Amino acid sequence: MINIPLLLLSCFLFHHFHAISCNTNTDTDVLLSFKSQVTDPKNALSGWSAHSNHCNWYGVTCTKVGNRVQSLNLPGLSLSANLSPHLSNLTFLQSLDLSNNKFHGQIPKDFAHLSLLSVINLPSNNLSGTLPPQLGHLHRLKILDFSANKITGQIPQSFGNLSSLENLSLARNGLEGEIPAELGNLANLSTLQLSENNFSGKFPSSIFNISSLVFLSVTGNHLTGKLPQNLGLFLPNLENLILATNMFEGVIPNSISNASHLQVIDLANNKFTGPIPLFYNLKNLTKLILGHNNLSSTTSLNFQFFNSLRNSTKLQELRIHENHLAGELPKSFANLSSNLQHFCVSDNFFIGKIPQGMYKFQNLISFSFEINYFAGVLPQELGALNNLQNLAIYRNRFSGEIPDIFGNLTNLNTLAMGNNQLSGRIHQSIGQCTRLSILDLGMNRLGGTIPKEIFQPSGLRILYLEGNSLQGPLPPKVGTMKQLETMDISDNEMSGNIPVEIGECFGLKWLMMARNKFNGSIPTKIGNLASLETLDLSLNSLTGSIPESLEKLEYIQILNLSFNHLEGEVPVKGLFTNFSKFDLQGNNQLCSLNKEIVQNFGVPVCVAVKTKRRILLPIILAVVGAIALFISTLFVFWTMMSREKKRKEGKTSVSSAPLKGLPQNITYGDIRIATDNFAAENLIGKGAFGSVYKGVFSFSAGETATLAVKVLDLQQSKASKNFNAECEALKNVRHRNLVKVITSCSSLDYNGEEFKALVMQFMPNGNLNLKIHPGDEESGSILTLMQRLSIAIDVASAVDYLHHDCDPPIAHCDLKPANVLLDENMTAHVVDFGLARFLSQNTPEKQSSTLGLKGSIGYIAPEYGFGSKASTEGDAYSFGILVLEMFTGKRPTDEMFKEGLSLREFVSGMDENEVVMIGGDRRLIEDYGYSTQSSNRDDHSSGFGSNTHWMCKAEECMADVIRVGLSCTADQPKERWNIREALSKLQAINHSMLPF
Ligand SMILES: *[C@@H]1O[C@H](CO)[C@@H](O)[C@H](O)[C@H]1NC(C)=O
Ligand SMILES: *[C@@H]1O[C@H](CO)[C@@H](O)[C@H](O)[C@H]1NC(C)=O
Repeated sequence: MINIPLLLLSCFLFHHFHAISCNTNTDTDVLLSFKSQVTDPKNALSGWSAHSNHCNWYGVTCTKVGNRVQSLNLPGLSLSANLSPHLSNLTFLQSLDLSNNKFHGQIPKDFAHLSLLSVINLPSNNLSGTLPPQLGHLHRLKILDFSANKITGQIPQSFGNLSSLENLSLARNGLEGEIPAELGNLANLSTLQLSENNFSGKFPSSIFNISSLVFLSVTGNHLTGKLPQNLGLFLPNLENLILATNMFEGVIPNSISNASHLQVIDLANNKFTGPIPLFYNLKNLTKLILGHNNLSSTTSLNFQFFNSLRNSTKLQELRIHENHLAGELPKSFANLSSNLQHFCVSDNFFIGKIPQGMYKFQNLISFSFEINYFAGVLPQELGALNNLQNLAIYRNRFSGEIPDIFGNLTNLNTLAMGNNQLSGRIHQSIGQCTRLSILDLGMNRLGGTIPKEIFQPSGLRILYLEGNSLQGPLPPKVGTMKQLETMDISDNEMSGNIPVEIGECFGLKWLMMARNKFNGSIPTKIGNLASLETLDLSLNSLTGSIPESLEKLEYIQILNLSFNHLEGEVPVKGLFTNFSKFDLQGNNQLCSLNKEIVQNFGVPVCVAVKTKRRILLPIILAVVGAIALFISTLFVFWTMMSREKKRKEGKTSVSSAPLKGLPQNITYGDIRIATDNFAAENLIGKGAFGSVYKGVFSFSAGETATLAVKVLDLQQSKASKNFNAECEALKNVRHRNLVKVITSCSSLDYNGEEFKALVMQFMPNGNLNLKIHPGDEESGSILTLMQRLSIAIDVASAVDYLHHDCDPPIAHCDLKPANVLLDENMTAHVVDFGLARFLSQNTPEKQSSTLGLKGSIGYIAPEYGFGSKASTEGDAYSFGILVLEMFTGKRPTDEMFKEGLSLREFVSGMDENEVVMIGGDRRLIEDYGYSTQSSNRDDHSSGFGSNTHWMCKAEECMADVIRVGLSCTADQPKERWNIREALSKLQAINHSMLPF
């Protein structure tokens, strides 16, 4: 009995002795074998040698008794090796810190044997594989940090047993699956950092019960779930609540305010809905980030929100961008902390003015109000914010002059004010913003010249001034801009020569100067801009030849020199061998010996002639044929005419829905007075069959009505027939997109000559021709993309009605922009039925067969030239041409189509981008973007990239519409789309363009 304890004691002693004597050697061995495996570029472990006591080695500390390794701390030494399982023999190890090295391979499960471990610090290595569940046995573990490795798989449930754990950091790995609810058992946890993994499923609500939590970050996963209403009560110690970039939903609980130690709240990029939350009394709050959710508000909620932050005097960042916040910003906004550095409310629905009191935010670094509906003038106060680096207010409705605020803003890096209604001049003081790198003043109403001071900030990379009314020359000082990558000054009224100095902006990639009045020649030095990808000088008045130096531009994707007055031979080498990359059309004096350039751009051959005759011949033949046909059928025409005349004897007035109070029969005298004796200033149109006047008719109670009067020119042999056709056609038709004929007049004028006139609705916006080609005559505003689309739909509706809803069907036979009138709402009405034909099944072939030119040159279907009878297919063709004209801005009768190439061939030969670039007035697309801007909630990107979504949409729309035009203009009538197909496709396109 007595021996037993002795024996036990000796066993114990032996064991203890052994542990001390042998295991110290073992620790030395373990460390040496660890060293032998490690690549050590900084020679940090060079002092680790068998001759010295390992307790003195770099990075090693030992227990006081027994010299056992207690901690191994080797952070940031670029050590690289497989993480050795041998380390698990350091049985007394409490702290292992190998952070910021290049350890790779799996995490050894044998670490689970290190039962004394309280710290495993291994962030920023290359560890891979999964987390060993065995680590859950480490009951003393306080810190477990594997952040920024390549660990995959799930968090083991066993981690819920790490009862001492205070810090669990697994951020930036490839972890996935659900976060185990067991982590909610970690009662001592203060930091839970699981950001940037692929966690999914519901975020376990048990975690909100860990009342010791100070730091919670799970940003950048796919977590769902709602936040508990009492969040702030559950987590009384929380300082950082970072749930950004997940799929959290529901309302953000106001109880968060109860977690009064909160410093950072970042809930951005989730699906939180409901009202903008209130955060009273968060005294230590420095960052509040709620951007990119679906929060909504009103003016009074905004008031409460800003009011709730008035005690957060340490607030530095407030970001509530990309939500559905609406209403005005209240004055209480000025109660926000003067420590504010970042204030971002962009991409919401805010209205009203920028509230007063801005001057107090002296620490403000970025001020982002872009993509809202803010209006009014820009406050002068902005000029007081001399720490400002980023001032973004683009895409709003700010108006008035830009205040001269820039003298003080010397730290400004980005100044983005594009897409507003700002007027006045560009202040010279902008030159004092010497650190400016992005300057966007495009799409405003700025006038005057570009001050040369704008080119003082030597780091300027992006300059947008397009779409203003800037005049005068481009200052030669532009040549000092070595960093400039993008310069867009298109769509202004700038003039003078292109300064040769531009050839010194070696960084230029995108240079857009289209649609100005630049003249002189293209500087040869532009060829030195080796990085150039886009050079657009189209629609200016440039002369001289195309410099051969442009051949060298290696990276160019778009070289647009079209519609200038360039002359001489087109260079043939380099980029000029790739026809998809340049455009030269509309330069009538260029010539080329290259067959493909000749074909692609309608450029004449440099040495005359031959080809011309070859193209003309078929045209001459066709014309001769048509004339022959015309004469041969003339006889039939006359017999038919007289028969019809007889039938209508005595029936001189066709009245359809007369205006109330207007006499049923309007006389020549009435019309003469209404049109002020057919005064030239009342002449609103002139066609083949007569003139159209504007007339102001007075009737009964002193009231007047403005109407249009079409007076037939009876000298024209066909005019009378035309009148009858029109009366007949209009008698029974009624459609919102057809011009309403109010009455007709057939009587004698004061000289006793026959006088015939139709009295119709007056269309204050004139005809479509003038709107598509405003340059021709006095211009109105350019039609927007959506207006054009809607007009195309109107016209198609009218024609569809004539083709499919009238019995017998009617072919209009003369569809063209001049026959489409626009009322005060820009609704289109088809007019001029002078050539209309009834398409009765029983009509003998001859009767409805073509007589001469049926319609107008450029719009007539090709088969009409060969005598085919009037048909709905013919109308479809004319409609298709009308659509192509509307969306490319090119007339089918344009000079460029004289030599064989037709509008249709021209368009079908281009790819979509080219159509958009050439035809399309670029404003068609930009207008669309402007009008739909922030109403488009699909577009979550912010900053300059955000244009792309609507740009693409508008371009897609253009391309789709053009396809409709092409489908309607197939050469073979049978292959053409009928008008109903075209209409429904256009309606579908229109639908897809609506913002919601
Ligand atoms: C340490 O442990 C490993 C297994 O974990 C074993 O193979 C090795 O022999 C032990 N001793 C040393 C000195 O590494
Ligand atoms: C705010 O921070 C200060 C200093 O860090 C600290 O002393 C104070 O207790 C904090 N207050 C709250 C409510 O957390």
